[in-house]
Amino acid sequence: MKEEKGGVLLRDREFHQFTHELKNPLAICNGYLEIMLQKKSINSSYLPIIKSEVQRSLDIISLYSNRKFFTLEMEEFDLVYLLEDVIETLKLLFLESQSKILFLETREYYMLGDYNRLKQVFFNLLKNAYEARGENHLLVVVRIVEFPDYYQIQITDNGIGMTAKELRRIGEEYYTTKEEGTGLGISYCKEVVRRHGGDLFYQSRKSLGTRVLLTLPKRKKS
Ligand SMILES: Nc1ncnc2c1ncn2[C@@H]1O[C@H](COP(=O)(O)OP(=O)(O)O)[C@@H](O)[C@H]1O
Ligand SMILES: [Mg+2]
Repeated sequence: MKEEKGGVLLRDREFHQFTHELKNPLAICNGYLEIMLQKKSINSSYLPIIKSEVQRSLDIISLYSNRKFFTLEMEEFDLVYLLEDVIETLKLLFLESQSKILFLETREYYMLGDYNRLKQVFFNLLKNAYEARGENHLLVVVRIVEFPDYYQIQITDNGIGMTAKELRRIGEEYYTTKEEGTGLGISYCKEVVRRHGGDLFYQSRKSLGTRVLLTLPKRKKS
């Protein structure tokens, strides 16, 4: 088996990515179920989210077991719909800590891509913003800027930010500053975005916040 830098085996790395991605939807289900148990009442608006996150977990498992973890299944979809879908999933988590995501789009932005993989990407990026919230209320602003051949998605937070040294290490596999972190989220995002023919950049200032700039071609050139 191929040995990589730092002694991490290729298969181990894929397995770590898989468990990291599987934990995201399961943690959301757990959060919603916990709230209903605490309140001893069923909130029917949470049920479609739980159902969709269970389905997402099953999909991630079958992708991994069919060795298609990074294989893209392209379809046409509206980027606004996708972003609203991710934001809806995370809404409660944000509300609980009085954090907010601002995303106001009134039109549709169609593109060709793998909806589910990109859902994981935006989920990871918004979760990172959430985890970077400081003392002040977190505000995350999501914007789409349209160019002739591609979209640029900007995700700006007013969280703890990063030093220039930390910023340089962004995207390095297993790089994390969190006690319970894995350092696999951004490297996963980069890989998925790269496979779409796009790119992912970070801008950040310590104590001021972070901006993620993600470009996605409307249609990948082969
Ligand atoms: N929005 C952000 N604000 C500040 N730091 C961030 C942000 N997003 C990512 N980071 C930094 O990048 C590191 C790597 O992120 P990631 O690959 O998602 O792994 P993890 O979240 O498990 O630490 C984080 O530990 C954090 O230091
Ligand atoms: Mg992360």
